[in-house]
Amino acid sequence: MALTHTILVVGGAGYIGSHMVKALLGEGYHVVTLDNLSTGYRDAVVGGEFIEADLADRGQLERLFSGQSIDAVMHFASFIQVVESVREPAKYYANNVTNTLNLLDTMRIHGVNKFIFSSSAAVYGEPIRVPIDEDHPKLPLNPYGRTKWMVEQILADYDLAYGLRSVSLRYFNAAGADPEGRLGERHEPETHLIPLVLQAASGRRENVQVFGRDYDTPDGTCIRDYVHVADLCEAHRLALERLLNGAGSAAYNLGNGNGFSVQEVIDMAARITGKPIPVKDSLRRAGDPARLVADAQTAKQELGWVPHYPELETIILHAWQWEQRQRRTNLNTKL
Ligand code: UFG
Repeated sequence: MALTHTILVVGGAGYIGSHMVKALLGEGYHVVTLDNLSTGYRDAVVGGEFIEADLADRGQLERLFSGQSIDAVMHFASFIQVVESVREPAKYYANNVTNTLNLLDTMRIHGVNKFIFSSSAAVYGEPIRVPIDEDHPKLPLNPYGRTKWMVEQILADYDLAYGLRSVSLRYFNAAGADPEGRLGERHEPETHLIPLVLQAASGRRENVQVFGRDYDTPDGTCIRDYVHVADLCEAHRLALERLLNGAGSAAYNLGNGNGFSVQEVIDMAARITGKPIPVKDSLRRAGDPARLVADAQTAKQELGWVPHYPELETIILHAWQWEQRQRRTNLNTKL
């Protein structure tokens, strides 16, 4: 039955999108990837159809939707750097909101009414209670988080007015890599903790900075809920099936419900890699909440989501396999 469905994966050449394309192909879906390759990689799209196009170009979108019968759209093509979003909000509102509207309006015109959206724990802002459930107040602290919450609100309005059914998936800290070793995280520049720690372990980076040791946590460093990219993809697949089966719109947190501090991540990475990880203590990074941990019970109950790789060890191990491969293919590259 899956064979009859065509899924458009926007941003399918990026980190999470590329893992999603691989997962959908494995399930027998027909996959069309759209990506402008501004941050993604063509060689990360392991199969299906590939279209290099930009969401800012309504004409390109119009041609795509006129030429294909699309059953559902997954949207991974956002900018994701919190600090950059504060410095350049226009870039974030243009891509994350205006371009998403281009996509939604083209879908609307062509009667495509199933949408899966990559949202973020950043919609909640500084938590007033942890673990964070979906009803927690939405008070994003930066333009990045605001773009995600704006799109969620737009989706609620489009559902009411146009019958566009959506699932917003609020990721906590996406991490890890394809267990088969084919794909992984390749952000340029990299800002995420686990790949930075592993680059320091492999010698591609001199050290990893710890942004603040004076937080109100047991060891003073920030606590996060790391979730394996393959488990995120599994949640998307379940959300897709839910929409294809006629269910209504929803929003779910995706995390493991376990918090690990920056220092714990570094210690575990040192153990797994067997390498020294040089650390440099730095000031706090603006806008980092002390503790972000998901209550993901609703995703488990309503989607039947069961993470396959909930252990931080496995997440780091898969990311380490990927980092070693990156190191082999970029032998002379110092980051
Ligand atoms: N950190 C360091 N050193 C680094 C990088 C990160 O100490 O070099 C710390 C951060 O201060 C934070 C933790 O490691 O405490 C995790 O940082 P990441 O940048 O890996 O992830 P964030 O928690 O900042 O961001 C993630 C997503 C964002 C999303 C945010 C939601 O990557 O897209 O969660 O709050 F907005």
